[in-house]
Amino acid sequence: MKAIYPGSFDPVTKGHLDIILRSLAVVDELLVAIMDNPAKPGFFTAGERKKLLETACAELGLERVKVIIDRGLLVDLARKKKVGLIIRGVRNTADLDSESAMARANRRMHPGLETIFLPASGDTADISSTLIRQIAALGGDASHFVPPCVLEALRLKNTENN
Ligand code: COA
Repeated sequence: MKAIYPGSFDPVTKGHLDIILRSLAVVDELLVAIMDNPAKPGFFTAGERKKLLETACAELGLERVKVIIDRGLLVDLARKKKVGLIIRGVRNTADLDSESAMARANRRMHPGLETIFLPASGDTADISSTLIRQIAALGGDASHFVPPCVLEALRLKNTENN
């Protein structure tokens, strides 16, 4: 079985990697799709995010993962790729509410498209990409939350921006 794990991944965190790793225990192939959330302006370019996701997965020796960039609707991507399953991570009840609404909207647009939620692991449930960008921008240590390649990319980006 194939599934899509969509998100903005700006940047990928250990929370996302936890979801990717655990998804691979239930699916044969995982398409990690970097997609647009119109509410988020974007810090890393889509190309940079893709490279970081690929490097982070390679560092963990993860196979059966393909990273793609798509600018359209998730339901259209699922149709195009002939995938009937979406995976999303949920960290708390707020995530569950918003993710349930998204899953229902997607199923209305694409009957038969199912979403399964994986609960975030305890040690990653309180992090977000925004929080990590803030910690890194202010010179804090984000190494608990992101893989080494992302730590380095944050350092370079913040040097460029200053
Ligand atoms: N552990 C830790 N943090 C996690 C996590 C986990 N397991 N899972 C998500 N997060 C964090 C992310 O870092 C992110 O933090 P941020 O808000 O600071 O950026 C946040 O939780 C949620 O991000 P993400 O999972 O990447 O989702 P998103 O809300 O940014 O993206 C899309 C949502 C891209 C899937 C959605 O907008 C989409 O489907 N877009 C395509 C267009 C479309 O079809 N729209 C209609 C949807 S009904």
